[in-house]
Amino acid sequence: MNIYEFLLDKFKQALANVGAPQGAQAPLTRSTRPEFGDYQFNGAMALAKTLGQKPRDIADKIIAAVELDGIASKLEVAGPGFINIHLCTDWLAAQLDNAAQDPRLGIDKEPAQTVVVDYSSPNLAKEMHVGHLRTTIIGDAVVRILEFMGHKVIRQNHMGDWGTQFGMLLAHFSDQLQDQVAETALSDLEEFYRAAKVRFDEEQGFADRARDYVVKLQGGDSQCLKLWQQFVDISIAHSEEVYSKLNVTLKREDIMGESAYNDRLPGIVSALKEQGLAVEDQGAQVVFIQELADKEGNPAVYIVQKSGGGYLYSTTDLAAMQYRSFELDADRILILTDARQALHFKQTEIVGRKAGFIREQTSYEHCPFGMMLGSDGKPFKTRTGGTVKLAELLDEAVERASALIAARDSGLSADEVSQVAQKVGIGAVKYADLSKNRTTDYMFSWDSMLAFEGNTAPYLQYAYTRVQSIFRKAGVDAQALTAKIQLQAPQERALALQLSQFIEAILQVERDATPHVLCGYLYDLASQFMSFYEACPILKEGVADEVRNSRLQLAALTAKTLHTGLNLLGIDTLDKM
Ligand code: ARG
Repeated sequence: MNIYEFLLDKFKQALANVGAPQGAQAPLTRSTRPEFGDYQFNGAMALAKTLGQKPRDIADKIIAAVELDGIASKLEVAGPGFINIHLCTDWLAAQLDNAAQDPRLGIDKEPAQTVVVDYSSPNLAKEMHVGHLRTTIIGDAVVRILEFMGHKVIRQNHMGDWGTQFGMLLAHFSDQLQDQVAETALSDLEEFYRAAKVRFDEEQGFADRARDYVVKLQGGDSQCLKLWQQFVDISIAHSEEVYSKLNVTLKREDIMGESAYNDRLPGIVSALKEQGLAVEDQGAQVVFIQELADKEGNPAVYIVQKSGGGYLYSTTDLAAMQYRSFELDADRILILTDARQALHFKQTEIVGRKAGFIREQTSYEHCPFGMMLGSDGKPFKTRTGGTVKLAELLDEAVERASALIAARDSGLSADEVSQVAQKVGIGAVKYADLSKNRTTDYMFSWDSMLAFEGNTAPYLQYAYTRVQSIFRKAGVDAQALTAKIQLQAPQERALALQLSQFIEAILQVERDATPHVLCGYLYDLASQFMSFYEACPILKEGVADEVRNSRLQLAALTAKTLHTGLNLLGIDTLDKM
């Protein structure tokens, strides 16, 4: 049951009944304070304007028209015409009884859409670095949530496996064809890449040779292709190591790298030319985008083929768009990259729509995120200024968590400490990223992400173990509870309302690809639970059986919601820590 949607429907009907035009605004929000009720409907003011009547009169009429018998215990007009909605406590309790009996916690699936999610997408040859952490973690939470809601999700790891960096590697490699070099090249690709990059930047003529190699590679030269495949395989193995440490759902079959679109690129350019969209400019094929002209009126320039014949990142993205919309049948295409690519995707959408590379009904959504910063506020680097390697970062997270857990002295065996540290360390890194609004830059800090207080993974994981320990103490199986929920204390009611709003958080993430909304929800839930637990004794002597059982039921539902929510974010829970 989605209480928000349910109320919204009721108010929309009521609006129609008091003479509102079709599509009249129906703003419904959560109340900010308990004395304002649980939800607030704010549609009276706008309608009053439309109808030329007094807002409070309209509010009264809406209250008379809305059918909420047995659902709302009180509807009152406040201020200029707000309608405060107080839900019936018994009705709220009954909603939770239903949720408690349902493995999906009362959450229905949505009509299934096909959603392509392009995330992680590292550039191969270089090892994955922190820049790819955000897209991988956020993207993975988004796909889990979409799948939970019943959608067909197609993961696309659009790996950068076809660009200049491979030309560099091939050129460097061909210069040093002794076996030994070949071996080191393949065993320490990172180092080999670095050496090639130095030559690319500094050595006369090398860059041109590298570019020739790209053309050769893209033209299908079998010698080049063979070597390229070896480089790619090593790189993919590196990425997979990171994926497995991170416990993300990306599989090898989700890889659809840039190279996979190679054969489609000439067709993309010729279609653009035929439609008069692409024109020649200094030997290159470009699309001028008037919609994105600068202040002087100069159109944005979108290059789809270089003067030497090479194709670009943009050409590949047009091909990917077409494939996803027409062949994968996508209703939505979500692409997660850092915000610096926002303009690129805006341009790609404009060009792609004009050229008919995307069906009208496919929505194309670039989901940008900010940068990861160090504690100095500058892009996150190692102490020596190098880029931070992901695999090492994750190992450090687990080490730090392990030290923290061991210091807590919670009676765990060494084996248990290491298992807990794994989940807490990785969970902390992921959650720190997920919990921030993705559009802002985010400051990486070990201390804050590993804190047991505040909006962190350890705090939520710990809240979950607290509930588990209640059940252990009570000697009760949480799954076997059948008690009806009774809501008497204000803390019980507040917890219940929060529990009922899980679906609202999930739907928002489903729509906006913003996992921080779910994080915020879970954090509030854990906090509400702590207040409830302080105010409402469960196992204490003298607590009546039905009260005790109802409270256990609330605790069980809280645990299930925390577990489901964390799981949707890709974070493990623990029974003890
Ligand atoms: N490889 C790119 C990068 O690391 C991200 C690719 C995102 N997806 C896309 N379809 N362009 O910046």
